[in-house]
Amino acid sequence: MKVDNFRLQLGKKEYTPIVIGGMGVNISTTELALAAEKLGGIGHISDAEVCFVCDQILSTSYTTRKRKKYSYNANNPDKSDLHFDLGEVAEAQKMYVEHTVSQKSGNGAIFMNCMEKLTMRDSSETLRTRLSAAMDAGIDGLTLAAGLNLRTLDLIKDHPRFHDVKIGIIISSLRALKIFLKRAFKLQRMPDYIVVEGPLAGGHLGFGPEDWKSYDLYTIVTEVIDFLKSENLNIPVIPAGGIFTGGDAVKFLLAGASAVQVATRFTITKESGLPYEVKQHYINTEKDDIVVNTVSPTGYPMRMLKSSPVLNYSIKPNCEGLGYLLDNKGKCGYIESYYKALDLKEKGQRMKITDQTCLCTGMAKYDCWTCGDTTYRLKETTNQMPDGSWQLPSAEDVFQDYQFSENNQIQKPSAQEKVNS
Ligand SMILES: Cc1cc2nc3c(=O)[nH]c(=O)nc-3n(C[C@H](O)[C@H](O)[C@H](O)COP(=O)(O)O)c2cc1C
Repeated sequence: MKVDNFRLQLGKKEYTPIVIGGMGVNISTTELALAAEKLGGIGHISDAEVCFVCDQILSTSYTTRKRKKYSYNANNPDKSDLHFDLGEVAEAQKMYVEHTVSQKSGNGAIFMNCMEKLTMRDSSETLRTRLSAAMDAGIDGLTLAAGLNLRTLDLIKDHPRFHDVKIGIIISSLRALKIFLKRAFKLQRMPDYIVVEGPLAGGHLGFGPEDWKSYDLYTIVTEVIDFLKSENLNIPVIPAGGIFTGGDAVKFLLAGASAVQVATRFTITKESGLPYEVKQHYINTEKDDIVVNTVSPTGYPMRMLKSSPVLNYSIKPNCEGLGYLLDNKGKCGYIESYYKALDLKEKGQRMKITDQTCLCTGMAKYDCWTCGDTTYRLKETTNQMPDGSWQLPSAEDVFQDYQFSENNQIQKPSAQEKVNS
């Protein structure tokens, strides 16, 4: 039995049941998402720091303009003056989505991962703007992530594509799902798919910093499937987190899941946005190098490599140019930690910030090496070169390994390819 024996049905369309999860900031690139789409699966782009991402890949200058506009405030711990120009956010979002969907060449789909914790100084309006602009630009689906918000569907209920775009949610417990479904039921807009993300995933986790160890994806997924059956709800369930081989995926598909969402194996592909050296670092990772910590100002635990440069940051908050995590009052946990540490430095102590980090800067500079729990197994998936470096597989190599492998076997990229990577 292999993944290719199954299909994901969403509305009238059928897909290869492999979803590449969203990885911000621009780790799940346009190219990575398109590779899944070309092979009949689903690829995500992410709208995390979308203005900054457009500056990097489409030569816009939103970040520089915003930084200049608010330069007078750079040394001020009070960031309540800083606002995103929502017209620009909509423009960037449309440009980015159009850039991606206009290159579709297969039978798959391009979805966008929208993290609701990216509050951008005005949580509701920025979210409404981002979701609406993505739909305007032709995105196939919206995956609502990190900070699942009960009023999100209300924000876009008047959009002409509200019933046509696919809408999915990421949850980590049956409890969270039940709460969301109550609101969705009232609006007569149930989600089209449910991603159940377990404790082994990369990025932010929907569990406590310590209690994640006591949960297991398979148990949560079967609880969710049983609940949906008992309510006569036919909504595809997509497990995510720690699914490393085609065999792992088949186990979930046989248990009633409709597809799997995977990410870690794709972090080291040629199409992933991580810099070459960081990909090598991921492959060389050992189990003990991976931690779950609480440095993210979102308040969610996050899994990352211990050696992430972001863990040694003592940089001035970069909110004038970035500021994606500013709450509605213009606050972010890192600002407080930074100014406390600065105060101590002025009193002669060493400047060291350990409790929080500047995630906006860290993700933008690829200094936050967030990763899934299985990262230490990546070396099983590719070939080592005579000089000790690792061959980078293509997204197609990894996708097809998930799709066609049997008995938990992993097909490494062909040796001939080594010459070019
Ligand atoms: C490097 C990396 C970055 C991620 N960033 C995000 C993100 O921005 N938003 C999100 O909802 N999930 C994010 N995730 C979670 C993935 O989308 C996915 O659900 C999960 O990692 C799948 O598990 P796996 O990595 O074990 O395959 C990230 C995962 C990784 C590995």
